Amino acid sequence: MSTSLTWGRHYLMTEPTHYRIDYAINPFMDTEIQPDPARARAQWDALKATIEELGGRVDVIAPREDSPDMVYAMNLGFAATLADSRRHVLLSHMRFPERRNETRSAVEWFAANGWGTAYVGKDGVGPTFEAGDVFPFAGHLVAGTGPRTDEMALKTLATEMNVRVLGVRTTHSGMYHLDLAFCPLDDRRAIICPDALAPESAQALLDLVPEPLVITEEEALSTFAANSIVIGRTIVMPSCPERIRPILEGWGFTIRIVEMSELHLGGGSVRCVTNPLDIVVGRDVPVVYGGEVIPT
Ligand code: ARG
Repeated sequence: MSTSLTWGRHYLMTEPTHYRIDYAINPFMDTEIQPDPARARAQWDALKATIEELGGRVDVIAPREDSPDMVYAMNLGFAATLADSRRHVLLSHMRFPERRNETRSAVEWFAANGWGTAYVGKDGVGPTFEAGDVFPFAGHLVAGTGPRTDEMALKTLATEMNVRVLGVRTTHSGMYHLDLAFCPLDDRRAIICPDALAPESAQALLDLVPEPLVITEEEALSTFAANSIVIGRTIVMPSCPERIRPILEGWGFTIRIVEMSELHLGGGSVRCVTNPLDIVVGRDVPVVYGGEVIPT
């Protein structure tokens, strides 16, 4: 028997008003190919409406004119309610300076909405950390390091949140955040693309997940299938490869496709534009006072 995820029903999203491809910081981005603003807006609206229709809640943070990637709200910070009921966010310290202004808005939004705020590094000083690299699963916060998050950030993540962090090394330029290669589905299952990870890290992740759904590099990169969100037994995905649909349905999931082609031009999909606000330490990941980091 498996139990549905207890988190994933409340998200922060950034309206795509200023979404553009002004620079190329991942292999999907090409400044010669700009998103269609009306279509991007319609896709974003459809995703928000789908989450709400499934019983989820969406809060919205105002976009910044100077931050064309801010629509990828997953990267604003890692937010969790701590064991003593304080809401706490570890703000991202983006790898690329082009995205660092986003944190200025994020810190204001979180502070104004009752969240305590902390930094791993700031304005280019200290380790980098991007929250698209972090997800709770099976007693750990699984945290990808490499392209965007420095391994040094994991210590702060573990101590700020009082949790055990399993560090996995991501090595693929196209899967530069863990959320492009790993998607928790319920308490026993997750989508994993081992090709995104160093061999020892891929093995550690496969060992952590009782029933992994392994996808190929091709499937991950061409369909963004791992960049999905799960609301109870419904998986909201940008597309579902025919090979994996019967497996997911066999596990009792309903698949809801939301077209995200315009957002794919910036290198992100459903997960990247939604930042979960309902992760609870002590419920979704056990309390480990002082924190602990397990490198792989
Ligand atoms: N253009 C953005 C970047 O390269 C895309 C971020 C995608 N977000 C994600 N959580 N994977 O930073």
